[in-house]
Amino acid sequence: MKEIKIESRIKVCKMSELASDEQRLIEMAKKATDNSYSPYSHFKVGAAIRLGDGTEIIGANQENAAFSVTMCAERSAIFAAMTQYPDQPITHLAIAARNENGFMAESTAPCGSCRQVILEVENLHKQQIRLYLYGENNIYVIESIKDILPLNFDSESM
Ligand code: THU
Repeated sequence: MKEIKIESRIKVCKMSELASDEQRLIEMAKKATDNSYSPYSHFKVGAAIRLGDGTEIIGANQENAAFSVTMCAERSAIFAAMTQYPDQPITHLAIAARNENGFMAESTAPCGSCRQVILEVENLHKQQIRLYLYGENNIYVIESIKDILPLNFDSESM
């Protein structure tokens, strides 16, 4: 038997270490938490994405009394982009979240379903999506969803 080790590559940054357009996208994600509809979890998630042509789109989590139909912030933004700008690759995605105590101290990472959707979009446009996972203490910058979705399943897996 042999063992394989799978590693993730994540840059841990402070806001001041990021370029102004990166900071702006993160601020958009933070602002998008205002549009969260989250009367059940009270966890407000915002996402902001930038497309290849510079278009920026926001998303926020949208909850429902039937919990399972809740939509995450990331997928709200991605599906809006895919619908309105189907030919544009997504190049950047920022995520921020807050609860009753304010913005989360540590980075908020996309859930498994969102990671799978992000993977599909990366593959579709053959374009890596740089992720910014905001936390008050640090921002995780990740070059591709594949870094945090190892051993993934995609169309080539069938
Ligand atoms: N949520 C997101 O919007 N994105 C994630 O990646 C994690 C979870 C939302 C869904 C739900 O409205 C709330 O956070 C609590 O799970």
